[in-house]
Amino acid sequence: INLAVFISGNGTNLQAIIDSIKAGRVEAELKMVISDKKNAYGLVRAEKAGIENIFIDPADFNSRQGYEKELLDYLDKKNIDLVALAGFMRLLSPYFINQFSGKIMNIHPSLLPSFPGLHAQRQALEYGVKVSGCTVHFVDEGMDTGPIILQAPVPVYSDDTEERLASRIREKEHELYPEAIQLFAENRLTIQGRKVYINQP
Ligand code: GRF
Repeated sequence: INLAVFISGNGTNLQAIIDSIKAGRVEAELKMVISDKKNAYGLVRAEKAGIENIFIDPADFNSRQGYEKELLDYLDKKNIDLVALAGFMRLLSPYFINQFSGKIMNIHPSLLPSFPGLHAQRQALEYGVKVSGCTVHFVDEGMDTGPIILQAPVPVYSDDTEERLASRIREKEHELYPEAIQLFAENRLTIQGRKVYINQP
């Protein structure tokens, strides 16, 4: 499959995807990395790996749809089969999602539906849960609400800081996201309503 990754920041998940492809654990071609932030370090990671990387500035467009049309044009040009959001901090509108329905994934640092939105790790600490984790899900119009593909638990310790919990969750994310992308690449994911079925190979 042809893969595109959208980022806004550091891109450690992007790096995990790049490494997994290189190691043959993910059978995909990473065709491009797109960022809505000029200084996203993920763009440097892509450049170092020899992958086309593009900053598309939302400020250059006078509507959300205009921006998303530009994104869609890039995806079209490269025949992209799957978009993986990896720390991409913009909510995609129904205009975009409908044209790429069932082909957009996101990773979130909690066990959804707990703690959607920003600062999921802080939310988990403040709530006092003993277990959090990460979730890979298909993207729908909501904020972190789409059908769940894979989840992994991570313990929360009583002396945790936000940073320690975040880094423990991040390590798990780096295993889980490539795994989900590989399932998609093997055509083993079926969405039925809220449920994602993982078919046997
Ligand atoms: C991750 O925690 C991911 O779950 C969330 O954004 C963060 C991205 O981190 N959606 P990175 O840029 O991949 O390091």
